[in-house]
Amino acid sequence: MTAIASVEDFWTAARRRLPRFLFDYADGGAFTEETLHRNVADLRGLALRQRVLHDVATLDLGTTLFGRHLPLPVVLGPVGIAGMYRRRGEVQAARGAHRHGLPFALSTVGICAMDELRRGAPTGPLWFQLYVIRDRGFMRELIARAKQAGTEALVFTVDMPIPGIRYRDAHSGMSGPGAAVRRIAQAIGKPGWAVDVGLRGRPHQLGNLEPVLGRDSGLNDYMGWLGANFDPGIRWSDLDWLRAEWDGPLIIKGILDPEDARAAADYGADGIVVSNHGGRQLDGVLSTVAALPPIVAAVGDRLTVLADGGVRIGLDVVRLLALGAKGVLLGRAWLYALAAGGEAGVARMLDMLASEMKVAMTLTGVNAIAAIDGAILANAPANFSNVKGSS
Ligand code: GLV
Repeated sequence: MTAIASVEDFWTAARRRLPRFLFDYADGGAFTEETLHRNVADLRGLALRQRVLHDVATLDLGTTLFGRHLPLPVVLGPVGIAGMYRRRGEVQAARGAHRHGLPFALSTVGICAMDELRRGAPTGPLWFQLYVIRDRGFMRELIARAKQAGTEALVFTVDMPIPGIRYRDAHSGMSGPGAAVRRIAQAIGKPGWAVDVGLRGRPHQLGNLEPVLGRDSGLNDYMGWLGANFDPGIRWSDLDWLRAEWDGPLIIKGILDPEDARAAADYGADGIVVSNHGGRQLDGVLSTVAALPPIVAAVGDRLTVLADGGVRIGLDVVRLLALGAKGVLLGRAWLYALAAGGEAGVARMLDMLASEMKVAMTLTGVNAIAAIDGAILANAPANFSNVKGSS
């Protein structure tokens, strides 16, 4: 087994350990996966501007998001069914994040319910991600439970009124008829996973949804349930209703257009996540790198702009900050680390990211997160003006 030195190594280890349906569900995107690849390629295509002899003896990677000081501008973003990737995976990932003082955002469709998460990871910052479910009474209940658990920010994901079409899920057995047998066959071929998660990681159900789905709410109905219960009738004015239920920081996730970003600000959101859902929804849309600068120009002074998509290395965090994001959500990066190494894997991945960010900051001549701007890019996008001062 190769030593783990990068997120890519976690990817390799996760692929080795996971049954194919789970690995492909994480690794794949929608349709022909153009946007999935663009997210990564556009980030890598942003050249950094090397600067030397700028006294970067002291570096501060800390920042403040929604009133909380964080040692890194990084949050573990919401990922569905993470508890299928490692035993009680959401708890382990949250503990890994909390070792670094970073927030963990629990997905509505996590395996562990909010209460289990709070019991297992009692002290660190917790965010909760809410999907738009037809049953508004149930949404209210979820929000109330999130409050009770001490959730610090609500992430309202708005880019899934219908699930994206993911060819890989049909091929792998994650979705489609007769797939359960194929999943079992794949699991038998991965004994490490089968014992840790298949046998000892039960119950396999969408913990937060147990009240509506019953105890039977396993993977069998996962994609079907998403399709049947997400509400395509949601509109901007529904935010008024949500605002009445939740008075804490409200972050709208899944914004890719400046007009929608303005609407989010008009409706009183405290933050947005510029996101194409990791290329898992509408394939062919802009990469995060392409979408972010005009959105920052439109609303950067009205709310906190976060971003996600394609971040696989600490340099990518710095690149998104250079384009104007105030913080970055991770998805696949933490999921691979979790699958490969559990809580310790997640903590290690965050260590690696921080070390990589330090190198990027040192050699671009910035010593604080607030000092990162477009001036550290050698090839900033056209019409780009996120430069705070001369460097
Ligand atoms: C769920 O949020 C997914 O992207 O599969």
